[in-house]
Amino acid sequence: MKVLGPRFESVPAVREGLAGVSYLADEGIAGVVYLADRLGKPVLVEGPAGVGKTELAKAAAAMTGSRLIRLQCYEGLDESKALYEWNYKKQLLRIQAQRVVDAADGGGAEAAAPTGSWSELEEDIFSEDFLLTRPLLEAIRATEPVVLLVDEVDRVEVETEALLLEVLSDYQVSIPELGTVAATQLPLVFLTSNNTRELSEALKRRCLYLHIDYPELEREKAIVLTRVPEISDHLADQIVRIVRSLRSLELKKHPSVSETLDWARTLVLLGADSIGAEQARDTLHILLKYRTDIEKATKELSVAEGA
Ligand SMILES: Nc1ncnc2c1ncn2[C@@H]1O[C@H](COP(=O)(O)OP(=O)(O)OP(=O)(O)O)[C@@H](O)[C@H]1O
Ligand SMILES: [Mg+2]
Repeated sequence: MKVLGPRFESVPAVREGLAGVSYLADEGIAGVVYLADRLGKPVLVEGPAGVGKTELAKAAAAMTGSRLIRLQCYEGLDESKALYEWNYKKQLLRIQAQRVVDAADGGGAEAAAPTGSWSELEEDIFSEDFLLTRPLLEAIRATEPVVLLVDEVDRVEVETEALLLEVLSDYQVSIPELGTVAATQLPLVFLTSNNTRELSEALKRRCLYLHIDYPELEREKAIVLTRVPEISDHLADQIVRIVRSLRSLELKKHPSVSETLDWARTLVLLGADSIGAEQARDTLHILLKYRTDIEKATKELSVAEGA
């Protein structure tokens, strides 16, 4: 396997590189990405919804100029959608076409023994031209730099997880009819999980673990300023403070970074320069998605206002 030189100079370089593509990482995130590259290990990213797990992989691809190959996981995802499958329709057409040729050649006389051509035909229909490559195989075969994102891995069944493990351990895939395909380079791999179920010990052992939580105040403010450049510093500050106070409440679903950004964009669109409790209450549905949560938050904001 061709091992490319390290992608990153240092942890701060990772952080700067990510910031260059509008992803603001903290020391912890940048550190794990740096190590993943140096150790050639996949990163398992866990954390609540909307904190930037998927975005991290996209940003890593953008910063290194790599192609992002994404395997979106779901219940029922199997080998044929994750790795490869044979193009049956095309194979069938090829066989039918051969029959027509054979029939024309034979013309009733001594038919050119179809048995002779069968092995050739078989070799033909199980060749490259009839292979449908799915994301894992695509990442293994890529000759250019790639970042492989296995998104929401906790949604697949345990058997599929085992398949992933196999690919990620050896970076090779064996196709019985074609042979073993080994990676020519070590891709940078991110697996994300929302923790809907425990992943296997074996998979965890293979990966570096990164937990992304809601960002601290300053970083979230910086994220808002980066992603919503039209916003004023003052409004960004107010927004992240309110969001933070809402996250300390006991809610069904806490507002995520993506919701903070949606709220910021909404307020900018409404022409707000700063935000009062009333306006906050009127736009809470952007931030919170359960009625009970909105009610709790409304109460909290009224108390804060009264204080
Ligand atoms: N550190 C960050 N820097 C810049 N933007 C961020 C950061 N974290 C999150 N975001 C923003 O939040 C949005 C949501 O992030 P993302 O889709 O990666 O969340 P996720 O953790 O994958 O959520 P889910 O679990 O729902 O898939 C991104 O599109 C991005 O705009
Ligand atoms: Mg995601």
